Amino acid sequence: MKKILFITALLLIVSTGFSQKFKGLALTPPMGWNSWNTFEVKIHEDLIKETADIMAANGMLEAGYNYIVVDDGWEAMQRDSAGNLVPDPAKFPHGMKALVDYVHAKGFKFGIHNCAGRTTCNGFPGGRGNEFQDARLYASWGVDYLKYDWCDHGTADSRETYKTMGDALYAAGRPIVYSLCEWGNTKPWEWAKDIGHLWRTTGDITDCYACQGEYDMGMKYIIQSQIGLEKYAGPDHWNDPDMLEVGNPGLTLAESRSHFSLWCMLAAPLMAGNDLRIMKPEILQILTNKEAIAVDQDSLGKQGSLYMEHPSKQIWIKELSKGNWALCYHNTGDQPLTVRINWKHFGMMLGEFTVYDIWKQKEVGTTAKNWDIEIPSHDVVFYKLTKK
Ligand code: GAL
Repeated sequence: MKKILFITALLLIVSTGFSQKFKGLALTPPMGWNSWNTFEVKIHEDLIKETADIMAANGMLEAGYNYIVVDDGWEAMQRDSAGNLVPDPAKFPHGMKALVDYVHAKGFKFGIHNCAGRTTCNGFPGGRGNEFQDARLYASWGVDYLKYDWCDHGTADSRETYKTMGDALYAAGRPIVYSLCEWGNTKPWEWAKDIGHLWRTTGDITDCYACQGEYDMGMKYIIQSQIGLEKYAGPDHWNDPDMLEVGNPGLTLAESRSHFSLWCMLAAPLMAGNDLRIMKPEILQILTNKEAIAVDQDSLGKQGSLYMEHPSKQIWIKELSKGNWALCYHNTGDQPLTVRINWKHFGMMLGEFTVYDIWKQKEVGTTAKNWDIEIPSHDVVFYKLTKK
């Protein structure tokens, strides 16, 4: 009897107290492509297949973009008579399993979106109350990544609600990266480490440098809101400052370059969000810059931090493995800047380093000698420092 009581108590603690999460699925920040930033709900299976074909051929898959995530808008408005979610038959006439198989056959993993509330932000069925059934359905389709939104959540408690879906994914038995999209409302960085692999830290990004809407904002404000969050990120639990707008019409080339550099400095998930069918070569060059990606994906898993800020200048630093560092000077002002680099200011970088300019793609000196840099408005100078 005592033994039974003990086991029951243990089961109770396990089922109510501890979260379960598949470990080791996101030792570096996830990379891929997501449909939302460009296509919103105007998605269909041919677009997703074509995007996979392009990424497999243009070097993006090779560079590490291995998740293809279908965001909001994939569902029919009603569950079926058994309570299962149903893909919209007009947009996905061959069903989700066939699309997942296609994407897998091309060498990618497949991601899908739904919502912890009763409906998604666009009124499609949400997961609330159906978590275990939905998780089993995703697992049966071969889904590898779930982005779980926060619209229409009513009075639900965020931690409890996200934990329920996390437990459901775990119980379904298929390792699925769990991406919490709660917009940073209740500081998921303080409670989601054992529930998910990444969590949004802000409202939605939009493709402008410094605009602000009711729910969305440009990269400049998003960057500002990441300051101080670095201590919460690490392998398998990342801060997510939202997906990339690189290459989208509202950003200049310099702004796309800054956006990408800063997301790499922040060890952010790199989810491209542009229309790959019309991508310009200079945008592909940004997205596939190996040294920039290596900064993001560095195995030490440390998010960079703001080292210094002046009215129109920010200096970001990121510690890398093997005693190396990344450094990013960002001109947030509307005029070009000339900055004198004084290596002595970076006391935490011990010893001498060779300095590689990530966008010029060449070595530009060593830290034994100071120099001036020119930074155009909204642009960056992005360095990798390798210990000599
Ligand atoms: C928002 C989310 C966006 C996108 C959208 C879909 O809440 O932040 O990234 O998923 O919902 O409706």
